[in-house]
Amino acid sequence: MGKLNEAAERQIREICQRHKDDNTPLMMILSDIQNEYGYIPLEVQEVVSQETGISVAEIYGVVTFYSFFSLTPKGKYVIGCCLGTACYVKGGQQVIDKFSELLHIEPGQTSEDGLFTLDALRCIGACGIAPAVTINGTVYPKVTASQVNEIVAKYLLAEEKLKKEGVPA
Ligand code: FES
Repeated sequence: MGKLNEAAERQIREICQRHKDDNTPLMMILSDIQNEYGYIPLEVQEVVSQETGISVAEIYGVVTFYSFFSLTPKGKYVIGCCLGTACYVKGGQQVIDKFSELLHIEPGQTSEDGLFTLDALRCIGACGIAPAVTINGTVYPKVTASQVNEIVAKYLLAEEKLKKEGVPA
């Protein structure tokens, strides 16, 4: 989003107004902003604070507590590795470690080329197919560390193909 321009600021204020009578206005406001822009940087939190009267500290606390919200732009492909109990005992940690090693990013970070974000998730309700990994909504069941290479390669290949076809990323 960079520096907040007038149009973006107006839209943030409109989102705040839209939810002012909701039971949990802050969650609704932040969800809408996250969906609209993909992240919620500090300058946006300041506008939300002005509109709602909620302190920036409190808003920051909410944004950083829930993994759904993000302070920085997410990558084109968001890899969520479940580290809930069932996934953890079946090797979820080794899986996320492998993604981390391969992409040179820690959980919560985005690769320099902006392609991949790696997130550690709590139980996503797919314990029967643990360890589970989601990538932009696609769920990969019973993932092993040795499959990680192949999964990443699939997305890199798709990117290559798009580049060759001249489709902007
Ligand atoms: S613990 Fe991973 S899906 Fe439930």
